[in-house]
Amino acid sequence: MILPIVAYGDPILKKEAADISADYPKLKELIANMFETMEGASGVGLAAPQVGLSIRLFIVDTSPFVDDEEDDEEVLELKGFRKVFINPIILDEEGEKWNFNEGCLSIPGIREDVSRKPKITIEYYDEAFKLKEETYEGLMARVIQHEYDHVDGILFTDRLNPLRKQLLRKRLENITKGIVDVDYKMKFPKARR
Ligand code: NI
Repeated sequence: MILPIVAYGDPILKKEAADISADYPKLKELIANMFETMEGASGVGLAAPQVGLSIRLFIVDTSPFVDDEEDDEEVLELKGFRKVFINPIILDEEGEKWNFNEGCLSIPGIREDVSRKPKITIEYYDEAFKLKEETYEGLMARVIQHEYDHVDGILFTDRLNPLRKQLLRKRLENITKGIVDVDYKMKFPKARR
């Protein structure tokens, strides 16, 4: 089932989400619905707060980054990177910060360069509630960092310099009201009926 994606301006996106336990109701169904929702919106990541649940869970699938012609092994690795992260903790971030043009399904139509470290080590539970510790680099790290921010109540726009954010103010305000061109189902906090 496709779930509506919560738009910029909804307080749930600014809230620090809570850990869940293995007996969280209908977890399997939620994860399946989140994947369906993310794919329907052509996203590479989706966090539970974006579908209205303030819990520490996010999913990633970086395969849309890879086009059919690709034969570079490192890029092809992105194709199979489809995962569920529950109660994650980023243990370490390292390397020299780099810019990547980020977007967010909750902030349609806006993309901005965001600076983050290239390598992370993360501890989390997978969908079977098995504890994992893994290290990621490059785009995989990038997507995880963006989604991890969501469960901490941080949006990529919070990481822009104040001038840049000021320039986007009107467009962000319009998104909260639903004045935006988007081809997937959304829930706007200040939409007029
Ligand atoms: Ni996002």
